[in-house]
Parts: sequence; structure tokens; C-alpha cells
Amino acid sequence: MKKINIAIDGPSGAGKSSLAKKVAKELDIIYVDTGALYRTIGYYAKQKGLTFENITEVVDLLDEIKLDLCYKEGVQAVILNGDDVSDHIRTSEISMYASAVSAIPEVRSFLLDTQRDIAKEHSVIMDGRDIATVVLPDADVKIFLTADPKKRAERRYEELKAKNPDISFESVYNDMVTRDKNDSTRAVAPAIKAEDAILLDNTTLSEEESVKEALRIIFEKVGKYEVL
Ligand code: DC
Repeated sequence: MKKINIAIDGPSGAGKSSLAKKVAKELDIIYVDTGALYRTIGYYAKQKGLTFENITEVVDLLDEIKLDLCYKEGVQAVILNGDDVSDHIRTSEISMYASAVSAIPEVRSFLLDTQRDIAKEHSVIMDGRDIATVVLPDADVKIFLTADPKKRAERRYEELKAKNPDISFESVYNDMVTRDKNDSTRAVAPAIKAEDAILLDNTTLSEEESVKEALRIIFEKVGKYEVL
């Protein structure tokens, strides 16, 4: 079977991770969630007492950070200095920290090799913001997944409400709009569609329909029998 690298970029709440997980299962390849790496750096910054005002000081802490990704039955875990932090990095607060650290060039270059090394060794579907433009510019397939902002906020709200019943839709929507703006207007590796990426807008699609459409795009690009 041919090695294949698939890049999925797009704003938060577009459903990148659910889609990528399902496609990974279908093709029997690894799903790499790169947002988890930025979240882990954000988590570390918060643990060390940094705030949004002095967040750039995280650059001085990078030497202390050892990050590893490991996979158990297709599920990714992030190991920060020996501890599995996967369960601590999914809060709204850490989302904002992740977005803040992700605008710092030194943080981006610190995480680049970790991402590229996995794709060099394995067939992967990797999701993020700059996978097609920076991390894997030679990816076999590039998809930019997006949806209407209200729809994306609704999905994120449902997800977060399960863990935190007091959360309001307005706060989720406002955080999402702020994060989209930070991520798409930053100077380094902004979250934009690569010229050669295929746009997949899933506003009116069910999860199942999005997966079907993504698989159709992938098979059209690389040929079904080359990857299955
Ligand atoms: O995909 P996510 O919500 O877990 O990502 C968290 C933050 O990390 C997001 O606001 C932007 C940043 N990020 C990035 O800049 N580049 C990536 N490849 C992945 C995430």
C-alpha cells in the first residue's frame, strides 16, 4: 500500500477532528491532531503562571518542554514531560491559550519537526491550520474544511456543554470568533486555505455526508486502490 499524507485545515468547530478520525479509520492510517500540541504548550504556559499579557515569555520555557504523541487503538495522547495531559487540554480557557501561543513564531518552529516526523514515517491524516501551507506542503490531498460560524459555534457548544452544563452559547460563539480572527490574521502561518486545497463546506451536511465527501475527494486524488 502506498504511503499517503492527507492535510485537513480549517477554522475551529468545522468538524476537522471527527471527520479526520473517521477517515483515518476507514483508510487504516493515523490521525494526527496538531491542535493538541499547541494546546499543550498553552497548558504549560498557564501552569507556569503566564497570562495573555506576558504569553511571549513561553519562548524561554520551550527548552523545558518535551512533547511526545502516542497512539493507542488509533487514539492520540499527548505526553508532556512524561505525563499524559490529553484530558487537561480541552477546556475553553486552554483553547484561548493555545490560540495565543500559536501566534508565536518560536512555538511554531518548535512543533514543526514533531509534526513532520510522524508524517515522514507513517500514512497520516493530519488536522490543523497550516498543514497544507507549511507543515506538509507536499501532502497528497489537501482539504480545507469549513462551515458557517453560527453552525460551528453550535457544534462546539454541544461538545463543551456535555462537560460544563453552565456554559453559554454566547460565550462559545464569541470565543470562537475571537480565535478565528487571531488564527487567520496572525503574521506567521495564518489559518488560510492553501491555493491547491479543496474547499469542503459542511454547513448543511451531516457528519456522515462530510466523511463521504472527504473520501470521494481523497479517492479522486489518489485512487481508491492505491490507499485501500
Ligand atoms: O484545532 P484546535 O482547536 O485544537 O487548535 C487550538 C489552537 O491551536 C487554534 O486556535 C489554533 C492553533 N493551531 C495552529 O495554529 N496550528 C495548527 N496546526 C493547529 C492548531
